[in-house]
Amino acid sequence: MRLIVTNIATLVCDCQRKQRLQGEEMARLDTIDDAYLLVEDGKVAAFGKMEELPAEGVNADEEVDARGCMVLPSWCDPHTHIVYAGSREGEFVDKIRGLSYAEIARRGGGILNSADLLHTLSEDELLEQSMVRVREVMAKGTGCVEIKSGYGLNTADELKMLRVVRRIKESVPMHVSATFLGAHAVGRNYTKPQYIELLINEMIPEVGREQLAEYIDVFCDEGFFTPDETARILEAGAKWGMKPKIHADELAASGGVKVAIDHGALSVDHLERITDAEIEMLRQSATIPTGLPGTSFFLNMPYAPLRKMIDAGCGVAIASDYNPGSTPSGDMKFAVSLACIKMRLLPAEAINAATLNAACAMGQSHNHGSIAVGKQANFYITARPIPSVDFIPYAYTTPIVGKAYIGGFRVE
Ligand code: NIG
Ligand code: FE
Repeated sequence: MRLIVTNIATLVCDCQRKQRLQGEEMARLDTIDDAYLLVEDGKVAAFGKMEELPAEGVNADEEVDARGCMVLPSWCDPHTHIVYAGSREGEFVDKIRGLSYAEIARRGGGILNSADLLHTLSEDELLEQSMVRVREVMAKGTGCVEIKSGYGLNTADELKMLRVVRRIKESVPMHVSATFLGAHAVGRNYTKPQYIELLINEMIPEVGREQLAEYIDVFCDEGFFTPDETARILEAGAKWGMKPKIHADELAASGGVKVAIDHGALSVDHLERITDAEIEMLRQSATIPTGLPGTSFFLNMPYAPLRKMIDAGCGVAIASDYNPGSTPSGDMKFAVSLACIKMRLLPAEAINAATLNAACAMGQSHNHGSIAVGKQANFYITARPIPSVDFIPYAYTTPIVGKAYIGGFRVE
């Protein structure tokens, strides 16, 4: 199957072929004006100037005329909790009235509320509710996503969540990575030591045996799990080949960055309260700092200092954190706008953070995150001609996606 997209005003493509962009490299976006893009069997086969196309054509099965619109790589979203039950707008109102996210959690709401709701749903019902959001993000231009468990908080419900993730994986063209986040909070009816034993001796082995997760996450933060507890949980996951991706420094400087790096984490996420010493540690490591600007926006919290991290030479990613409590949105374009407006990233830096570096934060940048020959053909054609790439974060509520393609197939 060959698909050709012609008359692209500007194609944002990848000529550098790096797995991850660091520091100053993040401000570079390669573009070709008046371009075509050729897709073969779901992968990018070629791209270039329209004038380089052979006069006799390329014998494509389908031709799409971009009519002067722009083509960009699909978003990659390396941190979501998209599988969840119901919603938590009651807490949204509580927060407006003055309660903080941490206070709501201390009163037994928050994550535990979502766990109670999830417990009442069958696997099929949970899948149905989650698929609404999965379809929504694909239509908004996301082509690769990570999904965490963590609203089960007992063995049966954690497995239920991860089986739903597996069914999503099997039913959509988008790449889905699964992360076991049993250590999201202490489940009701357990003491913390009991819950950690359950995680290590029961949940992780069951998830491992069923091969339900590639990654393991811990909410390493004040009021949740300590660095020592995190280390024990990560070591148990490592025995089953689960690589860490960590929540850290959201509510306090938690020590999570060091434990993440020490355990070879792919990414460490949130980082709203990161210290300068931790930035230096990250600069020297392969662990990717991942900012979640939508979370700071929704919770009215400080934003992670991604500008400072890039200036220090780090390569950063951004993600939506789509979840019912702290970020009920999977809109990556809005996350990119927030990264520009609130974190002072240049549009090119924010787009790279939400595409190539985001793919890298889920171990997928060999195959995703940019329009490069041989990679999955995940891209979108803008809804109308736009003056420049910078227009995308600038027009922060204007829908950008006209036609989205994943693996060369049109997302309806
Ligand atoms: O990444 N901070 C921890 N976990 C989620 C929120 C979970 C929830 O409130 O339901 C987050 O923000
Ligand atoms: Fe999260």
